[in-house]
Amino acid sequence: MKGIEILGYGYAKAEHRITNDDLEKIVDTSDEWIVARTGISSRYVSENKNTSDLAYEAAIKAIGNAGIDSSEISLIVVATITPDKFTPSTASIIQEKLNLNQPMMAFDINAACSGYVYALEIASKMIDIGETALVIGAETLSKILDYSDRNTCILFGDGAGASIIKKTGTDKSIEFHSRSVPDVNHVLFANGVSQSTPLTNDSKDYGYLEMNGKEVFRFAIKVMQESIESLLNQIDKSIDEIDLIIPHQANIRIISHVARKLKVDIEKFYTNLHEYGNTSAASIAMALACANEEGILREGMKIIIVGFGAGLTYGASYIEL
Ligand code: UT7
Repeated sequence: MKGIEILGYGYAKAEHRITNDDLEKIVDTSDEWIVARTGISSRYVSENKNTSDLAYEAAIKAIGNAGIDSSEISLIVVATITPDKFTPSTASIIQEKLNLNQPMMAFDINAACSGYVYALEIASKMIDIGETALVIGAETLSKILDYSDRNTCILFGDGAGASIIKKTGTDKSIEFHSRSVPDVNHVLFANGVSQSTPLTNDSKDYGYLEMNGKEVFRFAIKVMQESIESLLNQIDKSIDEIDLIIPHQANIRIISHVARKLKVDIEKFYTNLHEYGNTSAASIAMALACANEEGILREGMKIIIVGFGAGLTYGASYIEL
């Protein structure tokens, strides 16, 4: 899609840094196991900040980084599986926090850990030349984690990443390839309030995040490779022409497998999962903002972002900076 540019990035982390040693005190695990099996050393969790607070912080930084006035924003899309409320949406809360009183579309999407990839595609296709959108991935996954389940609680953290995009009509382009397949074996889900009980106030159990790690691992490797290859085919480029790949920050072993299958050096993949863990929809958005802050992103760079998650969703986008 021609003429879409990312003008700025921002991220926000939650207040508490939880190390593997901290988790050893609450579940039967060890720093050695977590680092060897996932590459994760710490993650951040929020005590007082909700998803919209982290999203707002990231948005303010992205607006500053883009050098725009917030009044230029005409669309807000937030990807999250842990919104503050069922309604209004996190995007509507952000619109209010930013004092954007002019009418615009503001809404959330749920595509789990592929959320930012989906949101970027949706927002890019919704804006006209001269228009600017705020695209955010934000989570407080600590709300839906069972801290007695060592299979999940060691992996995930809270955080937010935001980007400002603009349709400029220049030669710059972003291309998209997102998909979803049914999770027939129910390998990754969180039920929430699972069933309504009409006409009574009884609510059924609130469901934490549940996962069949091995199945998700296999799915991830398969679809990350497929997404990247399909996208490269679509844009008629080889992997060697790509400068940087920003994958969903789930597990260093997943990323290493994908690098091996694609026959590319792992160095081509940006990772920050050792510090932040898996922040679901925020993961790629945060990684982009962190890479920008570290001075890794350069004008003209060709990058691919690639994600997978519950749904089962997956997808990749090609971005020319
Ligand atoms: O955003 C998408 C979200 N999900 C993912 O990306 C998850 C993808 N899957 C994974 O990352 C990996 O499957 C895990 C990290 C979740 C698990 O790693 P694994 O290498 O697949 O381990 P496993 O489930 O095969 O477990 C190996 C052993 C088992 O013990 P036994 O049966 O061999 O005695 C587990 O009970 O490790 C045990 N184990 C643990 N030990 C210490 C499982 N979790 C832990 C733990 N600490 N936290």
